[in-house]
Amino acid sequence: MIQETIGAMQQAVQERLLHCRTAQDVQAVRVQYLGKKGELTALLKGMKNVPPAERPAFGQLVNAARSALEAKLQERQAEVEEQEMATRLQSETLDITLPSRQPVRGHMHPLHLTRRHMEEAFLRMGFSLVEGPEIETDYFNFQCLNFPPDHPARDMQDSMYLTDSLLLRTHTSPMQARVLQSHKPNEPVKVIVPGKVYRWDYDATHSPVFHQMEGLIVDRHIRFSDLKGMLEDFLREIFGASTKVRFRASYFPFTEPSAEVDISCVMCGGEGCRVCSHTGWLEILGCGMVHPNVLRLNGYDPEQVTGFAFGMGVERIAMLKYGIDDLRLFYENDMRFLTQF
Ligand code: PHE
Repeated sequence: MIQETIGAMQQAVQERLLHCRTAQDVQAVRVQYLGKKGELTALLKGMKNVPPAERPAFGQLVNAARSALEAKLQERQAEVEEQEMATRLQSETLDITLPSRQPVRGHMHPLHLTRRHMEEAFLRMGFSLVEGPEIETDYFNFQCLNFPPDHPARDMQDSMYLTDSLLLRTHTSPMQARVLQSHKPNEPVKVIVPGKVYRWDYDATHSPVFHQMEGLIVDRHIRFSDLKGMLEDFLREIFGASTKVRFRASYFPFTEPSAEVDISCVMCGGEGCRVCSHTGWLEILGCGMVHPNVLRLNGYDPEQVTGFAFGMGVERIAMLKYGIDDLRLFYENDMRFLTQF
């Protein structure tokens, strides 16, 4: 009778252990059979109902069953723990042969590339590079450059004033005056001035902040033909050797004579491209011979020296060079645009 009960119990435990997946599962089985209120423990407690003569045999049987069960439980527990460990190791494995994530590397902005390209061309021609303040006085921005007070050309520039006499410079030309004033009278000068300028204007081809590059040469016997030759060389360097260049008479208070320079649409296949005008020519910069008044106002003698100056927009050159029809793209920081350069 008791043997059968124990046999059935052993069978049941065997069965249960097979389904154990964790050490906790095994512990639950242990409690169910060997715990204080366990099934095998209950058998032992029932010994008092057994006739005294049969008790030793009964006790032996139950205790043997108990040890056998405990051994099985321990065996299964060890197995399950080993499996648990194996699964955990598997899931925590690092595959060190996977390729690493590449950090995103920065690169140059198209405006910066253009500015560099322009600077390098001028540095090779023997210019020095200087920079000046973006907050400028009315005196340097206008007066030293031969703008008469209340001259309409001041309005043309869409100035942004900070106080009565301070403004955000509307062009890099005030550096013409600053450079001349910082030299001894009539000393030769050959500089370019890259930098930010500010105008009250905003659409697809105008930004309130944009970049210009100014050039100034003053020396003995500088002629308009020197200006033409140098700018032609520069523009062919930037846009390619087959670029045609034309000079149109224009007006600036600080140069006389003054000109605007156009280039032929070579970079995008001529007429009808989205950047070119229908004429096949594009305006690219302003220039002229330094006005005698500008030399005088800044301590130079127009009887002794002459000079030329030019100023161009970096955005405009970048737009033409890369065929970009909306200058706002330069400032939006859209990586799909920027990574193309
Ligand atoms: N400062 C002028 C402008 O911003 C350009 C210019 C520079 C013209 C030098 C002549 C000489 O439009």
